[in-house]
Amino acid sequence: EIDMKLYIIANRLPVKVAGTNGKFVFSRSEGGLATGLDSLQTSYEKHWIGWPGICTNEEKDQQEINEKLQEMNFHPVFLSEKQIENYYEGYSNSTIWPLCHYFYAYTLYKNCFWQSYQQVNRLFCEEICRLIRPGDKVWIQDYQLMLLPGMLRKIYPELSIGYFHHIPFPSYELFRILPERAEILKGLLGADFIAFHTHDYMRHFISAVERVLHLDFKLDEVQINNRMVRVEALPMGINYESYHQASENKEVHQAIERTRKLFGEHKLILSVDRLDYSKGILHRLRGFATFLEHHAEYHGKVTLAMVIVPSRDHVGSYAELKTKIDEEIGSINGRYSTMNWTPVCYFYHGFSLEELTAMYYVADIALVTPLRDGMNLVAKEYVATKCDNPGVLILSEMAGAAVELTDAIQINPNDTEQIENAICQALEMPEEEQKQRLQRMQNILSVQTVNKWAADFVNELNATCMKNDMLR
Ligand code: UDP
Ligand code: G6P
Repeated sequence: EIDMKLYIIANRLPVKVAGTNGKFVFSRSEGGLATGLDSLQTSYEKHWIGWPGICTNEEKDQQEINEKLQEMNFHPVFLSEKQIENYYEGYSNSTIWPLCHYFYAYTLYKNCFWQSYQQVNRLFCEEICRLIRPGDKVWIQDYQLMLLPGMLRKIYPELSIGYFHHIPFPSYELFRILPERAEILKGLLGADFIAFHTHDYMRHFISAVERVLHLDFKLDEVQINNRMVRVEALPMGINYESYHQASENKEVHQAIERTRKLFGEHKLILSVDRLDYSKGILHRLRGFATFLEHHAEYHGKVTLAMVIVPSRDHVGSYAELKTKIDEEIGSINGRYSTMNWTPVCYFYHGFSLEELTAMYYVADIALVTPLRDGMNLVAKEYVATKCDNPGVLILSEMAGAAVELTDAIQINPNDTEQIENAICQALEMPEEEQKQRLQRMQNILSVQTVNKWAADFVNELNATCMKNDMLR
């Protein structure tokens, strides 16, 4: 197995490129898929195929970016402005994303979106065909590439193809709304093995296949022509040790000191997410505002630090949300700020890994309130970063991570009062209890790491493929 390669295919590479005219900067991509999978170590030679996050038609630029990325075994797929607009911002993030996150009213349907989605999936398919050799494995990631397993299967009947779905798979009643529901499901079933973060997402997928395509699952398997497709729930983990030991790193240590100085004696509540309506950012702000309204005793003593990473800002629903968030924060700060206290400390940009882990380490409370979230790695990273220092995780029950993190204070983010009460409960929780809850969650995270997740995935993929080889 030594020279066998594992090709990870994802819309976004773990590195994003910015700049023009031969002056390019390479930085780490945000988002759970890229951050999680990038820290993965496997016995296979790991290659990535994906979009480098930049639009350029210049051949010279593409070549330069290509050379630099090749050194890291990253193979860029360049997309045109039109493709970004119709495939990425369009079908992926204005049709599929809102539908899978139960934001039915936000979904847009346009024929040019669907055309472009098919075209870009074909483009990825061509790039894979150019690179792979017999024996290599292909692991396709996420909702931007759901047609790709089927396209590859037509060309390579015997190739090992896995697919992981990083976002929720919605109930059949929602999924059926999608005009291209049958094509999408057929595309996915080109894979040998398909996995989801939770059991519920998996069950929704099975019922969609049964009702839309009239196929019958036997337990976790369905037969397509002369091969079996297997499904499974495999929750993605994080690189536990790197977070758990982060505070020993010199740079992180300095950042911890700086962060402590900045927030002084205040209790620090932290939230970190991409700017996305699925993250429940406005619900969180309303919860915090209600908390301030009802608990004057905490004025001047508690600060909410909000890290919001810009995301998909050309999509209308995202741009509108940005305006509302700015207004809501402005309104809270305008109402409650004093000469030496600002209740919401707002950052509209990403942080380096060192600064981010320092904030996790220092924060007394992490407030994670998505309305829907496939997994939510931020919640896991916060818990892992704590050592023997206390901390409380408040977590929405609508996040995939809630299945494993049962020792968090779990809330329904639609209930403002629950957010308010959870903040009070967290502020008053005895240190001993905080540590015990963290410890129990750390026990789980330290076993279910991202390496274990990927190893499990590849083992299951291999087992399914072996069975199919025998059927042939
Ligand atoms: N993240 C980051 N820089 C930042 C803020 C966040 O790299 O300034 C990372 C964070 O560490 C996490 C990821 O972005 O790994 C977000 O993943 P999550 O699963 O929470 O949500 P997603 O963005 O995938 O919906
Ligand atoms: C979520 C999705 C990923 C995506 C990430 C960041 O985690 O599941 O597929 O890469 O968000 O979003 P972006 O659109 O910037 O890649």
